[in-house]
Amino acid sequence: MAYRGSAQFYDLFARGKEEEQSFYRLLAQEAGSPALELGVGTGLFAFLLAEDGITVVGLEQSREMLLEARKKLQKAPKEIARRLLFISGDMSNFQLEQEFRFIYIPSGSFQYLTTRKQQLGCLRSVKAHLHKEGSFVFDIWTGESDTSGTWRRLETVPLAKGEVVTRSISTRLTKEKEIIDTVLRFDVHDKTGRITDTFYDWSQLSVLTVEDVKFQLAEMQFQVETIYSSFSRKPWSAKAQRAIFVTESI
Ligand SMILES: C[S@@+](CC[C@H](N)C(=O)[O-])C[C@H]1O[C@@H](n2cnc3c(N)ncnc32)[C@H](O)[C@@H]1O
Repeated sequence: MAYRGSAQFYDLFARGKEEEQSFYRLLAQEAGSPALELGVGTGLFAFLLAEDGITVVGLEQSREMLLEARKKLQKAPKEIARRLLFISGDMSNFQLEQEFRFIYIPSGSFQYLTTRKQQLGCLRSVKAHLHKEGSFVFDIWTGESDTSGTWRRLETVPLAKGEVVTRSISTRLTKEKEIIDTVLRFDVHDKTGRITDTFYDWSQLSVLTVEDVKFQLAEMQFQVETIYSSFSRKPWSAKAQRAIFVTESI
């Protein structure tokens, strides 16, 4: 399962998401409370929605990510913390005793569902929990990826006491060309540059096209309101690298 060894570093490497966060915040405001985030991770988006007055349930499969989210919850101001609940669960099949006005899957996390059964299971579960006037929003990456399997160093961020951590990635397309095997490596370096610790995370991401997703959404009786190609709300075009689906239940 992904996001185990690297959970402790997730927030450190999650810069540059402001536009995406503003996008989901705004849509959450329009849809109303309560909201459900699938694959909530450390709660980066959920905390922001809670600051805006939205009650958010965050569902997450990785124990380590949940732990990070709950650590942050303990330190959060009471009026924010009382609007947040982080629960363990699988987004491809979940049952909660509640309906939501806004269900969202940011950061391309729908692509962690690698089989059609899981993807349809997720849409079915979303459908069962979406308020009749609610909105379901998620994004997928449709652009080119380097799938040669070579290691690429992505970023370096400082830690305490002069240490730094570097993040590297290797991605490879499987034979069937439907899944990208992804390995993330985090190296902790001491102040002399020596590597003192290494953490790996393996995950598989499905390769999806807009047509695949539109087909699945239609099958599960979602109506697509809009497809954007960017979080600045550019309309989707065939050359776009990303597709953001804004949908509602029929
Ligand atoms: C890219 S991270 C996104 C975290 C958070 N939503 C954000 O945007 O910062 C993807 C998250 O989805 C979680 N995830 C992957 N598959 C899942 C599943 N089947 N059910 C629930 N969570 C899942 C991972 O453990 C990870 O925390």
